[in-house]
Amino acid sequence: MTEHAQHELPDLPYDYDSLKGISEDVVRFHHDKHHASYIKGRNSAEEQLQTARDEGDWSQIRLIKENESFNQSGQVLHNIYWQNLGGPGGRPDGDLLEQIETDFGSFDTFKEEFTEVCTASGRSGWALLLYDMSDGRLHTGLVDFHNQFSWWNVVPILACDVWEHAYYYDQGPDRGKYVDAFFNNINWDDVSQRLEAAQAA
Ligand SMILES: [Fe+2]
Repeated sequence: MTEHAQHELPDLPYDYDSLKGISEDVVRFHHDKHHASYIKGRNSAEEQLQTARDEGDWSQIRLIKENESFNQSGQVLHNIYWQNLGGPGGRPDGDLLEQIETDFGSFDTFKEEFTEVCTASGRSGWALLLYDMSDGRLHTGLVDFHNQFSWWNVVPILACDVWEHAYYYDQGPDRGKYVDAFFNNINWDDVSQRLEAAQAA
């Protein structure tokens, strides 16, 4: 039997009460309960997979793979989400701004499109800014749950969680108000570093 290390929940890169318009309670529940649950779910699916390998019993392989995909996607997108936040919001600068202007026409057009994607996602989902390794361009991505409508060969550099657990306690059904709060907390340096790493890969 092969022993793999368990996946672990990273600490928040800032204090629970440091976001503007996203309360300490929401950040605490979201990080400590919801994000943690996807890591637990992934570890559990990997344990089930190891049992299947050890016993040669593949009867649950479809369910295991569904659980791995859902929980791995939730784990990774939440990691990006927390690291994307904790900044001053506003606008990016440098190469990131240039690439946004090239690919979307202007920062305002990008922001409008991204906000529309946030609203258009189903009750639970994500809006993403994706760097496509295939064409070297930025695209917005709409995801239901954590993994439906996935793209391939792309790197998510900005991730907005629009599951109700991300905002309902603070903004109720007003998802647009939450998206405004999201933009007001973006750490564009983190987004720029992700773009740079993706371009260098
Ligand atoms: Fe979430």
